[in-house]
Amino acid sequence: MPLAGRHVVLGVSGGIACYKSCMLVRRLLEDGATVEVVMTAGAAEFVRPLTFEALTGRKVLASLWERDHALAHIGLAKTPDLIILAPATAQLLARAAQGQADDLLTALLLARTGPVLCAPAMNDAMYAHPATQANIKTLAQRGWRFVGPETGPLAEGPSERQGRMSEPETILAAAQRLLAPAGRWQGRTVVVTAGPTREHLDPVRVITNPSSGRMGIALSEAAWTRGAEVILIVGPTDLPLPSGVKAVRVETTADMQRAVQAVMKGADALIMAAAPADYRPLESAPTKRPRANGRISVQLEATPDILTSLKRPKGCVMVGFALETGDGLAKAQQKLQDKRLDFVVLNDALEPGAGFAVATNKVTILRKDGAPVELPLLPKRDVAERILDAVEQALT
Ligand code: CTP
Repeated sequence: MPLAGRHVVLGVSGGIACYKSCMLVRRLLEDGATVEVVMTAGAAEFVRPLTFEALTGRKVLASLWERDHALAHIGLAKTPDLIILAPATAQLLARAAQGQADDLLTALLLARTGPVLCAPAMNDAMYAHPATQANIKTLAQRGWRFVGPETGPLAEGPSERQGRMSEPETILAAAQRLLAPAGRWQGRTVVVTAGPTREHLDPVRVITNPSSGRMGIALSEAAWTRGAEVILIVGPTDLPLPSGVKAVRVETTADMQRAVQAVMKGADALIMAAAPADYRPLESAPTKRPRANGRISVQLEATPDILTSLKRPKGCVMVGFALETGDGLAKAQQKLQDKRLDFVVLNDALEPGAGFAVATNKVTILRKDGAPVELPLLPKRDVAERILDAVEQALT
């Protein structure tokens, strides 16, 4: 539980995105945080305080005048590890930027010296307005961190516009990163590859594999929340990518090789969770091949082996995956040596709940020095955390 023992005050202001704040409270609690909710009068028009009280088991605070002592806002400003504002409306940003203290939430923000994480949500024109942009700039210069707003359908209609509050999972990841203990990950660059690659037979037909990218995406998010700078090099996938990581989309194995090589110079760790296609057609037709009856033959050639081709910076921790069918321990051990890796994560494509396109994985982590560690069946995010624990030990 990354937020165990942490005290979070969630400030909720009056926008339709309030309904998502209820889910955010649940996720913060599940992660081990103690959560107190402070609402503006506008927020209470959208969601009743009772909802937050039922979720947190604590009284919602809304007024400067109703607490049993006059300095409640000072205590609330000083004690929490983090104040999250979600949603933060244009009006809340304006009042905070001006230093107003006309209700409990703005008063405690004025007294706050510790971290504030702000998730704006508003109409796109209000967000784009120079006044709002100036307020955000002012608050960022004072040390506030921002997550979102994102582009998507707003309350007024389905067209894509910027102003949507980030999803609870995204806000939670940003909170985890802000509260990550200072350690080995800050200032480190981690390169992660994810997903399949595609090799074209013609413009509409490809050779690929069923990898979804889920394991690599989970690794990239876990490394980002630990405090690292993360570059995610990802083949074709429909899954959403974590907002904090720098994503580079690629299609073929050769594209992936180029993209990885381009960022290896500054890398402290490379985690090759992708399943690059091993073969490509010797010739790719420039236009669609007409359907022909009977058999056709396609000549294939091997794609480059990315891991063995890379120039590695000194001290870069190298992690490969080995997807095998049946007893793969010996083959994975061989890959550890042949590809000169620090770790190989072995998973069995035939094992239920492991391998491609499922939410869980069952892996064994083989190490350059030391005995293999077999993990139970776990959600991919938990597998990612265990892999990063191993990488953390190896970072010099
Ligand atoms: N890999 C790579 N370049 C490729 C294919 C795979 O760098 N062209 C990486 C994968 O990302 C993984 C590791 O090599 O981290 C092992 O991949 P895997 O598919 O298990 O093995 P292969 O090297 O392709 O060998 P084989 O298919 O014979 O098992």
